[in-house]
Amino acid sequence: MTHALVFGGTGMLAGATKWLIENAEHVSVVGRNKYKLEQLRPEYTNNNFQLVTLDYKDSKALREFLQQTIRVYGPVDLVVSWIHSTSPDAIPLILGELQHQKNPWRFIHIKGSSHNLSGITNEITVPNNCVYGDVQLGFKIEGSTSRWLTHEEISNGVISAIRHNKRKTVIGTLHPWSKRP
Ligand SMILES: NC(=O)c1ccc[n+]([C@@H]2O[C@H](COP(=O)([O-])OP(=O)(O)OC[C@H]3O[C@@H](n4cnc5c(N)ncnc54)[C@H](OP(=O)(O)O)[C@@H]3O)[C@@H](O)[C@H]2O)c1
Repeated sequence: MTHALVFGGTGMLAGATKWLIENAEHVSVVGRNKYKLEQLRPEYTNNNFQLVTLDYKDSKALREFLQQTIRVYGPVDLVVSWIHSTSPDAIPLILGELQHQKNPWRFIHIKGSSHNLSGITNEITVPNNCVYGDVQLGFKIEGSTSRWLTHEEISNGVISAIRHNKRKTVIGTLHPWSKRP
């Protein structure tokens, strides 16, 4: 991995973001909250990442960021996307900006919802130069009860999807959906 972008990498994905910072040549981590972004910094002495304060609902700022990071750090080869469905324009914009790259690149699409199964299982159409990695967040059934995933389980599942180049990953289970917490 030479140039990775992470959207939504400071919350439940912080573990996966830290792993990427250790394993990719350059990582850009996007979030709105500077303080949360800065929490990723102190553990690393290397300077292979940038913390980008940006609201991905702001299409103009998102487009400018994508063009700038490609200009400075070269073509993107991995995008990790935990983008809420309340921002429907962000993912099409990212796909559109990267579709003209000459190199193949991977789009790791993380999807989770407590109420809408179709929002988790729906796949999207990606450009020809893009390899799609679908990551569906489920829940855990433990005996007669169930619970949502921990941040560690989510981050480890995402790391596994990246490392093993998986086309589809379900973390936990989605079935039976009626057994969700
Ligand atoms: N199946 C499951 O078990 C499951 C599924 C989904 C969620 N969850 C749980 O639900 C919790 C809440 O989910 P969450 O997504 O709110 O938490 P989160 O992963 O902790 O936070 C969302 C991430 O997206 C960023 N973000 C959100 N809106 C943004 C925007 N407009 N522009 C740029 N970045 C943005 C946030 O940074 P900024 O706030 O700094 O922008 C943060 O990095 C999670 O902690 C997780 O444990 C569980």
